[in-house]
Amino acid sequence: MKTIAILTSGGDAPGMNAVIRSVVRTAIYNDLKVLAIKEGYNGLIKGDIETMTLSSVADIIHRGGTILRTARSDEFMTEEGINQALEVIKKFKIDAIVVLGGDGTLRGARELARRGVKVIGVPCTIDNDLGYTDYTIGFLTAVETAVSAISKLRDTSESHGRAIVLQVMGRNCGDIALYSGIAGGAESIVIPEVELNTDAIIKKIKNGRKRGKKHHIIVAAEGALDAYELARIIEEKGAIETRVTVLGYVQRGGVPTVQDRILASDFGYEAVNLLLSGKSGLALGYRSGKIIEVDIDEALETKKAFDKDQLKMVDILSI
Ligand code: F6P
Repeated sequence: MKTIAILTSGGDAPGMNAVIRSVVRTAIYNDLKVLAIKEGYNGLIKGDIETMTLSSVADIIHRGGTILRTARSDEFMTEEGINQALEVIKKFKIDAIVVLGGDGTLRGARELARRGVKVIGVPCTIDNDLGYTDYTIGFLTAVETAVSAISKLRDTSESHGRAIVLQVMGRNCGDIALYSGIAGGAESIVIPEVELNTDAIIKKIKNGRKRGKKHHIIVAAEGALDAYELARIIEEKGAIETRVTVLGYVQRGGVPTVQDRILASDFGYEAVNLLLSGKSGLALGYRSGKIIEVDIDEALETKKAFDKDQLKMVDILSI
């Protein structure tokens, strides 16, 4: 193996740059040539590729976003797009590719692996929605961002005696809502994995009011509900003024946390070492305190486990 390439695809996640740095430096240390593919699979189709050096990745470990830029490529999901990408791989003499991203990115990697391309997937998405790994890069940073918002919202909620619905990201997976809600001491957490129970939320608000509680924070994942509709129902049935805050894209940016940087460094290092030892078609993950590697197929098929007990705990702790 002489040349490896790296790309970032899908939604950006804080810590992607730390993975890029780790892959590039480990590869150069092992006398490999490293190519950067720009804007995800789109760059692979177009041949938008440049050589990386040790200094191309200087001063990026602490930066959010991705220096390689990213995209969600519809074209790559067509036979024509993939064939074009295979031509580019041949033209640039790419022996293996490390791809960084979420489930869509891993699906792209699986297509490449099925066509004989050596590929390693690194889970990078703020959503933490990949079932085979306990954590994806960027998730804990996004949670920190949401927790910091909750603390600020609690101040104003308390001062005005209002309820606040904070909508965080997560279309199919409620992990950002769950983790930030627990860490931020939210009264209620609404996630797509569990059916919305507005009566329970309203009962909680009313009980809290009875014993003089002034603030009430509801953290809701975007995939679980229409936050404005929930606020309307609370006002209607609960007779408490309610405001909505949609946190949005601030969750995707920012300085990666220590955990994200360390895991990112481990993943990048491991990705190159796996390729050097002749392994490919794998996705890296972190389970029960250890770095793991699983077949990309298995990574995509593993259902995300959900612990209902955690919601019960939230209910008890925020009584
Ligand atoms: O990166 C994951 C994610 O942030 C989801 O939580 C969110 O719904 C989605 O991406 C938004 O993606 P886009 O920026 O492509 O609209």
